[in-house]
Amino acid sequence: MRPNQHELVESLRARFGARMVETDPEALAPWLTDWRNRFHGAAPALLSPESLEEVQAVVALAGAAGVPLVPQGGNTSMVGGATPPADGSAVILSLRRMKRIRALSAESSLAVAEAGVILAALQDAAQEIGRRFPLDLGSRGSATVGGLVSTNAGGTQVLRFGTMRGLVAGVEAVLPDGSVHDGLSALKKDNRGYDLNQLLIGAEGTLGIVTAATLRLVPSVVSRAVAWVGLDSPEQALRLLRHAERRTEAVESFEIIPAEALASVLAHIPGTRAPVDAGRRWHVLIEAVSSDPGERAPDDLLAALLGEALEAGLAQDGVVSASEAQAEAFWRIRHGISESERARGPAVQHDISVPVDAMPGFMTGAGAEIEARFPGTRAVAYGHLGDGNVHFHVRAPAGADRSRWYADEAPGITRAVHDLVVAAGGSISAEHGVGQMKRDELARLGPASRLAALRAIKRALDPAGILNPGKLVTLAPAPDRP
Ligand code: LAC
Ligand code: ZN
Repeated sequence: MRPNQHELVESLRARFGARMVETDPEALAPWLTDWRNRFHGAAPALLSPESLEEVQAVVALAGAAGVPLVPQGGNTSMVGGATPPADGSAVILSLRRMKRIRALSAESSLAVAEAGVILAALQDAAQEIGRRFPLDLGSRGSATVGGLVSTNAGGTQVLRFGTMRGLVAGVEAVLPDGSVHDGLSALKKDNRGYDLNQLLIGAEGTLGIVTAATLRLVPSVVSRAVAWVGLDSPEQALRLLRHAERRTEAVESFEIIPAEALASVLAHIPGTRAPVDAGRRWHVLIEAVSSDPGERAPDDLLAALLGEALEAGLAQDGVVSASEAQAEAFWRIRHGISESERARGPAVQHDISVPVDAMPGFMTGAGAEIEARFPGTRAVAYGHLGDGNVHFHVRAPAGADRSRWYADEAPGITRAVHDLVVAAGGSISAEHGVGQMKRDELARLGPASRLAALRAIKRALDPAGILNPGKLVTLAPAPDRP
């Protein structure tokens, strides 16, 4: 441990006792690597404050000692966003012990949850008061409120209620100088200039440590149904989406899954079965939800929609869930893709968006171009077609050596994919953030004016680079001062 880290750890121990500081290498090990096992960091300590005041003390003391902090929630980042630097210069600041739900109101439809509250726990708490927190993703059992806010998480229910930006009504955070931004009071209107809440959302812990958030709740679900549709192409899927949107506002998810991704789920996730002919080249999952017993039942609505789609040639076959268990089983397939792709072998993942209408052409065109340029690879794109966001995985050729392929081949493939995304007017990070994985690509692709603004914001709020170093943007050398 470096002398300044030692000084920080000892002063925190003296002030808060042993529970604040973990230095046992075995206990630290799980928090030094990312979920996908792509990034390996080092840190001599993990700090676990339990309150806002304790986070403030940690940030202030770390600032004084010059020890960078890497904030961590559920450690489910897809871009190495919570993995400490490999040189061991930083310590981990875990928010997992801050897990109180401070307030929960059906009346105002708001929850105030601390950073360490796990998404599933928040969803359950909302349900208990007859409301719903309408953001969902595969890592709901580990992802925490602080991480969801700090990454502007998306997931599979964005179509109707938006990403975290739309669901966060307030943010409480400790800023790099140890001061507190208290933005929890959910003001509907507040025009005092720059919106610090929004600045902290998606900042990946580089501008402040999010300690709590006020979150919007929506009416709870009375009934839902999920349709699984087999079809020929992403173009057909988009036509089906547009048809559904013209018809109803009840559709909350519209996810596209290629046959290759379905096959890897069936092979790697126990107990999964193809809802329709697994030989279909493309599959779509559609969820419809009703919050009002007087409304048309979602299963009925989806059955009608499917009937129309089959008649109009927008689908090849399909089935509507007949029970909640079947709806869950369909979702299990969708949420199992990420894990089964990981189990399947080396692949380089890209989380990209283009305008919704351009997505089918992008999926087909970019897929073919990448496979032609990098012989033996297979492009597999799946995900949130309704949001114009897919996870564009490029699998390594069969038999490729894992570490050599990641080191020698993957970076060139990533640059090629990202160039195609930029040419299509899209984003190289739709929902997973930048972290350390995309930092250099963000810097390469700019645009320069945007990067300069990001760096200026970082420099203004965190001039010493204390928070989550090496993520999102690096500070260019500070301009010469007179
Ligand atoms: C998903 C994650 C990877 O959509 O974002 O499955
Ligand atoms: Zn996703």
